[in-house]
Amino acid sequence: MSDPSPLTESSVASAADAAITAFAAATTIAELRLARAAHAGEQSPLAQFNASLKSIPAEDRAAAGKLVGQGRARVAEALSAREAELAVAEENARLAAEAVDVTAVPSRWRTGSRHPLSLLMEQMGDVFIGMGWEIGEGPELENEWFNFDSLNFDEDHPARAMQDTFFIDPVDSHLVLRTHTSPVQIRSLLTRDLPVYVVAPGRVFRTDELDATHTPVFHQIEGIAIDKGLTMANLRGTLEHLARAMFGEDAQIRLRPNYFPFTEPSAEMDVWSPNAKGGARWIEWGGCGMVNRNVLRAAGIDPDEYQGFAFGMGIERTLMFRNDLNEMRDIVEGDIRFSQQFGMVV
Ligand code: DAH
Repeated sequence: MSDPSPLTESSVASAADAAITAFAAATTIAELRLARAAHAGEQSPLAQFNASLKSIPAEDRAAAGKLVGQGRARVAEALSAREAELAVAEENARLAAEAVDVTAVPSRWRTGSRHPLSLLMEQMGDVFIGMGWEIGEGPELENEWFNFDSLNFDEDHPARAMQDTFFIDPVDSHLVLRTHTSPVQIRSLLTRDLPVYVVAPGRVFRTDELDATHTPVFHQIEGIAIDKGLTMANLRGTLEHLARAMFGEDAQIRLRPNYFPFTEPSAEMDVWSPNAKGGARWIEWGGCGMVNRNVLRAAGIDPDEYQGFAFGMGIERTLMFRNDLNEMRDIVEGDIRFSQQFGMVV
């Protein structure tokens, strides 16, 4: 300090008091360090009093030295007491911040699970891979021509109304959300050399309300085989094999005449369900038939040379029979607790 006050009992006492007040006002160790530098450091009034002792006449020096010594002792004592207090307070605050509540519910990563529909689609695909078939694909946003026209649905054929279609704006884009996996039949024929043996699992869309047995977004698996000399017997044998792979060695299927524009003759396929709720019975599983000659023509294939069969069934329905489910909403809601019950088997 440039202008130190004269060394008197009261100036030493007030310097010490100022130091003690500043220490008490410090609320953290860092603040206390600043206060210590100001009031007990080399430039502090008390340090200057101490330095000035040597210029005090010898006879007064001892008394002045005692005054300064006492003041500095008070300050040192107050400093270490405040240091201890603040250290305890900071430690307590740290412990409180780091406290562990052993009763708290831990946030854990839960193991995920694949959806049973994905597993089942792969299993069904694998049955066909095992017979040498290929997996085919097509877009979900499909050209009307692939979804209907090429499959022998006439422009104003009432069969178009069989499926409740989501049409895409503008209508003259001629795009729809595919209503079935059958357009993959034509796509497979157009992109492959004959003979063709393809299954196409995938997502399809219809304007149904979600309820216990319907959902506007669901899955099908389509099959098409085109070769020389294929007959309804090949169709039946193939479907029987699939039914046994899905429902066990005792599974049986039955074909009932039906109508689809893309097959002739066409059939509805039922599967025998010995454990069905309400007693054993036949359950509708899918549609099938011999590929209509017009469909072969649409794919540029000579129907006199090549023939074939096709089939399509719902994956959700298959899952429901296989696992005795009666609530579609459980399948679509995506609750991991539902999926986990099916395990991780691929
Ligand atoms: N596409 C039909 C539907 O969604 C199912 C179907 C029937 C597929 C007969 C076929 C078939 O391949 O031959 O209802």
